[in-house]
Amino acid sequence: MPLYPVTIIAVAMVLMVSTAVRADERYTPIQDSVVAEECGACHMAFQPQMLPEKSWQKIIGDLSNHFGEDASLDPETVTRIEKYHRDNAADSGWLSGKFMRGLNKTSAPLRITATPYWVREHNEEVPERAWRDPKVKSKANCTACHRRANQGDYDDD
Ligand code: HEC
Ligand code: HEC
Repeated sequence: MPLYPVTIIAVAMVLMVSTAVRADERYTPIQDSVVAEECGACHMAFQPQMLPEKSWQKIIGDLSNHFGEDASLDPETVTRIEKYHRDNAADSGWLSGKFMRGLNKTSAPLRITATPYWVREHNEEVPERAWRDPKVKSKANCTACHRRANQGDYDDD
């Protein structure tokens, strides 16, 4: 049966709207294999969209002193990893990402779990005892609760 043009337009519009909604709920998975490997060696490689550029500069500029661990890398790799984070930071686009909410131009938190947006999303929804669950251990253990966090999908529960 032939589709009338108006039906095609209506279908196209529905698809466009639903893609826009989905895009808003997802964070682009890490697309650089060096970043994925080096920054995913000890924990999940966090998506750069979750901190501002200034935070990444501080974190990646001080890898030998990284949350009590030595995560240092050769200068070439550091430059590559820093560029990827800068290009994809929460404040990199003309429209700031959700993680900029409550932060100003000078804020540079060292943890995603310390940003006002993250804290608000979790304080409202996660009971205090959930953080003490032995399967979770740390707030930074995103994948304990968000099974598809590596794919940038945090909208699963
Ligand atoms: C040698 C192991 C190791 C490597 C490699 C490593 N990290 Fe980490 N990272 C840690 C530890 C340990 C923590 C603290 C985790 C916790 O609090 O549960 C951490 C925490 C973090 C946090 C804060 C998470 C939060 O919101 O609480 C960020 C951001 C981070 N790392 C980014 C990176 C980046 C970017 C790279 C790649 C350049 C990297 N890490 C490589 C060990 C590592
Ligand atoms: C103890 C379980 C737990 C841990 C650990 C956890 N989260 Fe969550 N997170 C939740 C729950 C529950 C919600 C609210 C329900 C929802 O929207 O999925 C949530 C919501 C979110 C949202 C908002 C999702 C939306 O609806 O748009 C984001 C983004 C997010 N978490 C990111 C993270 C990141 C990044 C980490 C690791 C640094 C993390 N979470 C660690 C349980 C957790």
